[in-house]
Amino acid sequence: MPNIVVVGAQWGDEGKGKIIDLLAQNADAVIRYQGGNNAGHTVVFDGKKHILHLVPSGILHPGTTCLIGNGVVIDPVSLLLEIEALEASGVQVRGNLKISELAHVTLPYHCALDQAYEAKRGKLKIETTHRGIGPTYKDKFGRTGIRMADIIEPDGFKSRLEQNLEEINFMFEKYFSLPPLQIKDTIVKYASLGQRLSEYVDDTAEIVNSMLDDGRMVLFEGAQGTFLDIDFGTYPFVTASHTLAGGASTGTGVGPTRLEKVLGIVKAYTTRVGAGPLPTELQAGGEDLRIRGKEYGATTGRPRRCGWFDAVIVRRAKMLNGFESMALTKLDVLSGIEKLYICVAYKINHEIVKAIPAALRKTDKLETIYEILPGWKEDISGIRKYQDLPDNTKRYIERIEELVGVKTSLISLGEARDQTIHMDDL
Ligand code: IMP
Repeated sequence: MPNIVVVGAQWGDEGKGKIIDLLAQNADAVIRYQGGNNAGHTVVFDGKKHILHLVPSGILHPGTTCLIGNGVVIDPVSLLLEIEALEASGVQVRGNLKISELAHVTLPYHCALDQAYEAKRGKLKIETTHRGIGPTYKDKFGRTGIRMADIIEPDGFKSRLEQNLEEINFMFEKYFSLPPLQIKDTIVKYASLGQRLSEYVDDTAEIVNSMLDDGRMVLFEGAQGTFLDIDFGTYPFVTASHTLAGGASTGTGVGPTRLEKVLGIVKAYTTRVGAGPLPTELQAGGEDLRIRGKEYGATTGRPRRCGWFDAVIVRRAKMLNGFESMALTKLDVLSGIEKLYICVAYKINHEIVKAIPAALRKTDKLETIYEILPGWKEDISGIRKYQDLPDNTKRYIERIEELVGVKTSLISLGEARDQTIHMDDL
């Protein structure tokens, strides 16, 4: 099997966790390349549900090395809780997980700033996950960030934090009217967390590249989705990292020539959590679809906004990520819907446009053009062969393939590993 970058083709929550877990059966390593504990990747194994926020979705396979790459931002408290919960349920994390020494650390003041910025934005709130993601990346690119290499050395952490204290407290006290940071408490707490995490910290770029030199198979696990990308997403209603497949290279230190294949994860309808445009959104946020698909955030529990399948954005996701095949997920959720709408084009002032406009104010004028396909009544969640699917289900899949311009490699019909139809060997 080639090395594969697994990327979400919509606004996240496409079901990447299940697909990574499935592909990890044949992988030697899984590496996360961006985002932080804003992600919530759900993996169901032996009837037990695991929601992973930072630990790669390959961890349930005992022989698979799991790496958290340099492009990820890490909240040590959240990561340690996740490791403890996994170990408590019998999953071996120690020895199987390595974290990049270059990854930036999310500290409590990043979370406080995330909330404070959101409050200031008023009506223009992004509706972030409040996990401190934006402020951590802001510090990274402002070159005031603190990295894993710093927190595992108490003196390194203290001096980095002291350098930043004046600015942090200026923001807290003068701009947001918040109490100042208690630096002593933070130093003591993070010295201990750093010690506990030190056994995991390593040069992950070296580890993953030497595995590739030895001909081993690596999966690159994307978080969030294409239209939450800092550049190509619906800015400013995006996350703060490079969610596209290209981020897999800079977020791990693996050269682009070594990323052999990109698999787009495509949900059979569209969802989004948080503010920003969603052209195919159903009235009242698509409550019926939300209930059918259990569309509530895996990290925050927030209800997801739901809408019809949007072929315009998935076609663009194909272009931006260069995926040659897709995994179509949650198709079983559509059983029982009489008519299925697919958005095939956008128009603004009667002219076809190929994307959501960069200037979001123009989305007020965006018109969605739909094609209507007949639905199917049958419960398809137990079907394991393509030929056994109802004819209308096959028609729906084939139309999506035509509109997006890629073939389907995997069809997911439920949370469990075996609720999957394998169309090819990838
Ligand atoms: P942040 O990443 O917490 O800064 O949030 C920015 C935007 O990305 C918000 O609209 C979030 O709801 C959305 N977001 C962040 N992580 C995820 C995810 O894992 N799935 C879906 N949406 C996400």
